[in-house]
Amino acid sequence: MEEKILEMLRESDEYVSGEKMSKKLNISRAAIWKHINNLREIGYDIKSVTNHGYHLMRESPDTLIGAEIYQYLKTDFIARNVEYYEKTDSTNTRAKKNHDMPDGTLFIAEIQREGRGRQQKEWLSPKETGIWMSLLLKPNTEPASISAITLIAGLAVCKGLPCEAKIKWPNDVIIGTKKVAGILTEMSAEADAVHYVVCGIGINVNMTAFTGELEDKATSIYIETGKTFKRARIVACIMNEFETLYKDFLEHGLTNIINDYKENCATIGREIRVIYNNREITGTAVSVDNDGSLIVDSGGEQIKVRSGEVSVRGIYGYV
Ligand code: BTN
Repeated sequence: MEEKILEMLRESDEYVSGEKMSKKLNISRAAIWKHINNLREIGYDIKSVTNHGYHLMRESPDTLIGAEIYQYLKTDFIARNVEYYEKTDSTNTRAKKNHDMPDGTLFIAEIQREGRGRQQKEWLSPKETGIWMSLLLKPNTEPASISAITLIAGLAVCKGLPCEAKIKWPNDVIIGTKKVAGILTEMSAEADAVHYVVCGIGINVNMTAFTGELEDKATSIYIETGKTFKRARIVACIMNEFETLYKDFLEHGLTNIINDYKENCATIGREIRVIYNNREITGTAVSVDNDGSLIVDSGGEQIKVRSGEVSVRGIYGYV
């Protein structure tokens, strides 16, 4: 409802009366007042004048509510429904618990108390400086192909960010040699059918510094560019990219996307160490296959590494 109220206020240069809003939105004037106060609490400067109504002052704050995202969105169904939380446990958890919501619903939060990364690691999700979001997807594909969604999300992030970034296969996005974003894809499926997929994306946007063990590994868009960015616009840019790639994937698998992916993949050509299935291999990453597997040349033998529970480290650093 806040979104609809904001839309009405944005559309008008003049005061909008409580009565007009209450009629259009079919709720009481007291309810309008309550929603206006909710918007004020998250930073909107809304002036109210007796007998005139409400007026939106100044530029909108950097929040991630649907109304902020929708204005830049060009998609058919991705992120057309936004579930916004000022604070939650984890947007992946929210998406899983609400998997009966429409395909493409985006769950997004200002703070996650229990943000999760891969391999049971914690994902730091402080207030209002990053993008913590999860897409609920209902693809009609077989479970084995779902790891490709992580790759698609990585490519969408890479293309949607307002600065040059690359992918560290399979699920990190990096600027230079440091991680700016991570992806955690989870699914519910049976042997040959996917019930739903949750693709969680965490992006460091406006953090000014990282400390401790993250200092050498993590970065933010602000640290790299010296500029702060409106997060809602970045979200929409990524969603726009994601939908194009995802629709193509649903029809043709990774066939049409893979070259674009490889061009944006920083792992190819690197000396790496891969740990998967209790196995460790070292070698040169030579390519990414049409099914999304990394091809590693290890002492002349070409080994295909499927994404999933793998850990990839550069021999000479994080990348
Ligand atoms: C990783 O690199 O280990 C993956 C990090 C994924 C973090 C995102 S933030 C939004 C979503 N909710 C979570 O709890 N995790 C993902």
